[in-house]
Amino acid sequence: MKNLLIISNWKLNGNKYLIDNFINKISHVIKNYRFPIIIAPPLLYLDYMQQVIKYYKCDNYISLSAQNIDIHNYGAFTGEISAKMLKDIGIQYAIIGHADRKIFHNEDNSTILKKFILLKSENISPILCIGETKKEYQNNQTIIVCIKQIKNIIENLGILALQNTIIAYEPIWAISNNTIINPIYIQKIHNAIRNYLMKFNYEISKNVNIQYGGSVNCENISSILKQPDINGVLIGKASLNIENFIKILNIINNNFYSC
Ligand code: PGA
Repeated sequence: MKNLLIISNWKLNGNKYLIDNFINKISHVIKNYRFPIIIAPPLLYLDYMQQVIKYYKCDNYISLSAQNIDIHNYGAFTGEISAKMLKDIGIQYAIIGHADRKIFHNEDNSTILKKFILLKSENISPILCIGETKKEYQNNQTIIVCIKQIKNIIENLGILALQNTIIAYEPIWAISNNTIINPIYIQKIHNAIRNYLMKFNYEISKNVNIQYGGSVNCENISSILKQPDINGVLIGKASLNIENFIKILNIINNNFYSC
């Protein structure tokens, strides 16, 4: 039986109505699922969603993640939120280095490292997104690029920093665009990441949670999760519609947890 983790990233979508409806509907089925779920709503709704999750008694099954944090903990940085604030309201995870942040906010490896450090100091688990551009993919640089992004953390903080860290491999060119990507290819990248980590620490390489993200849906979920080195998926668009998301969760439950 695989230890899977499913992450739903709402990006800049949703409102109170969607949250109420989503958690209400999922609360009827969630107790059947034998894998944890993390939801990353827009930052503004984290606190509200947390209350709704408690109201529907889903807090043992669903955790919340921020989609981003600032590189500072406090100060004159209008419009930002910090790791300390997430800690204050009891959030356990934060996505950093997402492709959308790299594309639209020029987030680079040094920014990601700063955010990683702040999360660790507040005991919040980073969901560290890594991945290559289309050009890098076409030039066969995927593994080199992904390893460079992980090396950025290991060289500065040591391999143990990857404990309680989730790595999400997300090819930038396959996000939000229904790209059909070969699961064997995804497996190859996940395996290369694990082999790289093995040089530093066997336990971490074996146990670190490596997710896949990029146009995951009902049709491709099973073939992706069947791959041995993939520990779960980070789903954007296909998780926004609750009926569709439950369909995906049922496929996972039926195919990977039937005994
Ligand atoms: P997508 O998004 O599933 O819509 O491609 C993935 C993500 O947010 O990382």
